[in-house]
Amino acid sequence: MRAGSRSRKMFHLSPARRKVAITTAAIVFILMTMTLYRWGYQNEKKTMEDAYMAMSWEGFGPERGLYNFTVVTAMVDIGRGSWGQQRRTYNTYLMYMQRVLRLDVNMVVFVDAKGKPFIDWMRRGRENRTNIVVQDFKALPYYKLRGRMSEIMKSPEYQQDNELVWKQLCESYIPEYDILQLSKLYFMDRVVRDNPFGTTYFMWMDGGYGHGHDIHPSDGVWVPKGLFDHPDQVTFMERPPGVRKFEPVKHKIHKMSINILAGLFFAGGGGAFKELYDMQKKQVETWMQEGVVDDDQTMYMLLYYKKPSLFHLVPGDWYDVFSLFNSHVTR
Ligand SMILES: *[C@@H]1O[C@H](CO)[C@@H](O)[C@H](O)[C@H]1NC(C)=O
Ligand SMILES: *[C@@H]1O[C@H](CO)[C@@H](O)[C@H](O)[C@H]1NC(C)=O
Repeated sequence: MRAGSRSRKMFHLSPARRKVAITTAAIVFILMTMTLYRWGYQNEKKTMEDAYMAMSWEGFGPERGLYNFTVVTAMVDIGRGSWGQQRRTYNTYLMYMQRVLRLDVNMVVFVDAKGKPFIDWMRRGRENRTNIVVQDFKALPYYKLRGRMSEIMKSPEYQQDNELVWKQLCESYIPEYDILQLSKLYFMDRVVRDNPFGTTYFMWMDGGYGHGHDIHPSDGVWVPKGLFDHPDQVTFMERPPGVRKFEPVKHKIHKMSINILAGLFFAGGGGAFKELYDMQKKQVETWMQEGVVDDDQTMYMLLYYKKPSLFHLVPGDWYDVFSLFNSHVTR
C-alpha cells in the first residue's frame, strides 16, 4: 500500500519536472551503457592485441640466457571459461602465457593436448631447451580425490563460518581448481626426478603469470638473483601481514580469504622440492580425513608452520618476481 501510494506520487510531478526526470534517467542510462560497452570493448581490444603479439612472434634468436636452472609451468583446462564467477577462457590464459613462454630459459611445460601447438609455436628456436609433457587433467594423482573434495565442500562443517563460501571463491566449490593448484608440487617433483636439463635448481611459474601485463624481461633473459644462495630451501614471496601472523589461527585459515604465500612463483633446489612434496602428500591425506580442502596457498602456510627452515620467505607482491629475482635489467 505504502509503496503504491509513493509510486503514484512520482507520477504527480508537474509535466516540466517529469520531462527533466525522464531526460536525466535517459542520460544516465546512455552513459552507463556506453561505459559498460567501453569496458567490454577494452577487453576485446586487449585480447586482439595479445593474439596479434603471439601470431607475429618470430621465435627465439641466438642463445644469450642462463641455462643452469629449470622453469616449470603448466596450462591445463579445467573449464574455467564456463564458470559463473571468476571466469576466464582457456584462450585468454594462452594469451597470458605467451609472456612466460618467451623466457629464454630451460622450460618444462605441462599442457593438455589441445594447448600443445601453441607451446610449440612460442618455443620455436628453443626446442632444445623446451620439454613439453602432454598432461591429461584426469590423470593427475590428486584427481582421484575429486569425489571426496566435492563431498567436503558440500558438508555443513566445511560451509560453516567459511568466508570463501560467502564470497563464492572458486577454491571453496570447484574441486578441479584445488586439484590443479595442489598439483604444482607434483609437477615439480616429476621434473626434479626426470630432470630433463640436468640442473640442480628449479622454479615454478604459473602459466598465466602477469595476467597479460608486460612485467617479464623484454629480451627474455633471466639471471636469477637472491635464489641460488638458498638451494636447500624453497623461496616464496610473502605478502603482508606475513605468514607468522596467522599461526595462532592455523586451524581455520582454510576458511579465511587471505593470500599470504604467493603460489604463482616459487623456487628451490631439487632436495627441498622433494621434501615439500612429501609433506604436502601427508597433509592432503589429513585434509581428506578431517574434511578440509583448500588451494595450494593455504597448504604452503601449513607446511611452513610444520617446518619453517624449509622456507625462504621474501617480502613481495604478485607482480614482483622479476623485480625481486632478476639481476638482468632490461627496462
Ligand atoms: C648458474 O650459473 C651462474 C653463472 O655462471 C652461477 O653464478 C650460478 O651460481 C649457477 N647456478 C646454479 C644453480 O648452478
Ligand atoms: C638442438 O640440438 C641438436 C643436437 O644437439 C642440434 O643439431 C640442433 O642444431 C639444436 N637446435 C637448436 C635450435 O639449437
